[in-house]
Amino acid sequence: MQEIIQPASRLQGSIRLPGDKSISHRYAMLASVADGVTTIRNYSSGADCHSTLGCVRTLGIPVELEGREVKVHGRGLRGYAAPAQDLDAGNSGSTIRMLSGLLAGQCFTSRLIGDESLSRRPMQRIMKPLEEMGAAIVARDGKFPPIEIHGAALRPLDYAMPVASAQVKSCVLLAGLLAEGRTTVREPAKTRDHTEVALREFGVEVESGAGWASVTGPARLEARELTVPGDLSSAAFFLVAAALLPGSELVLEGVGLNPTRAALIDFLVAAGVQIAILDIQMKHGEPVGDLRVRGSRLKGGVIEKGLAAALIDEIPVLAILGAASDEGLIVKDAAELRVKETDRIDTVAHNLRNMGVAIETAADGFHVPGKQSFQGATVNSYGDHRIAMAFAVAGLAAGGPVTIEGSEAASVSFPEFWSTLRDIAG
Ligand code: S3P
Repeated sequence: MQEIIQPASRLQGSIRLPGDKSISHRYAMLASVADGVTTIRNYSSGADCHSTLGCVRTLGIPVELEGREVKVHGRGLRGYAAPAQDLDAGNSGSTIRMLSGLLAGQCFTSRLIGDESLSRRPMQRIMKPLEEMGAAIVARDGKFPPIEIHGAALRPLDYAMPVASAQVKSCVLLAGLLAEGRTTVREPAKTRDHTEVALREFGVEVESGAGWASVTGPARLEARELTVPGDLSSAAFFLVAAALLPGSELVLEGVGLNPTRAALIDFLVAAGVQIAILDIQMKHGEPVGDLRVRGSRLKGGVIEKGLAAALIDEIPVLAILGAASDEGLIVKDAAELRVKETDRIDTVAHNLRNMGVAIETAADGFHVPGKQSFQGATVNSYGDHRIAMAFAVAGLAAGGPVTIEGSEAASVSFPEFWSTLRDIAG
């Protein structure tokens, strides 16, 4: 499918975003091993989070779905049934990596598969700690999906992650729920802590400090009634788009502002974006607020070191901001971009060049000089949701129409993206 984006002069209105993708995955997985029925409201409408629900169902856990409300009938940590078929994670790295933690401690074998993109993404990062805990894992070429997990009685582990990854941290903590004793994960840079926050909501004691978190198994999780905040990473597209278009005034309601994700807001403010946080409340341990953004004069910025890990999902759309800013955008220490749904350094560079925008790439980042303009062009999502949406933002600020091939990719995290954009672009 394709979408044609016409240049726009401003974005206006007030919108609610789909439920946060990271939090939705975690609530669904934890609910599936809790005792009793968990209700999750504002569950992400994205295909990725529905892949998680599909896997949980294949594991014999009843899941009722009505609009954005999900009821998961958990049966405790050992309530899964040996799956009669492969568990299909679709495009979702979070599903395959985090669920593997729960599967490693079961007394059965399961096989996780994914689509073409997921089948090229590295799995050694979860295989290593899970094997150290006692599970046996067979992967294609020793590192890619499909992965076959032979569950075992797990030993606790103290694991220092070589890459900063919330998916790996979560995988090990979830496996730790099933291990006898204390499991600790140490991270080289701060990553999102939704798993730690959600585990506490489900009644599990999580100890944590600067750069580490521990759980003690075997744990017991209690069913809960939960509401997922709006997705800040989805908000990023609208925050940047509104900032780029001078007359904009847009309100995003009920957005999750967890401090481990909100580096985005700090970065945008430092880059010159006029953002106000209108109201902030705590919901299930997660801060949630309304954001107002206005058309802004953009300075640009540098993303490096720990900030690269904190902004990893937003870097594609920040590249668009960089090109339109005064000073441009430099990204370093972000080699992880190369192993996302696409190699996002290459896909960003390819599309920007198609739009007449200069970019220099490196192994771990790129430099987009400032004061550039976007030309009308045809670009491609390459099957990557965040690339599709980032280039829709570039299209709004372009000198002519921009055709986005493969626009359906947006539905991986945000199926309503195109209609929402039409509503607020007028
Ligand atoms: C996620 C962690 C990040 C992020 C992904 C969601 C999560 O991946 O890119 O979109 O929910 O834990 P990594 O753990 O691979 O950095």
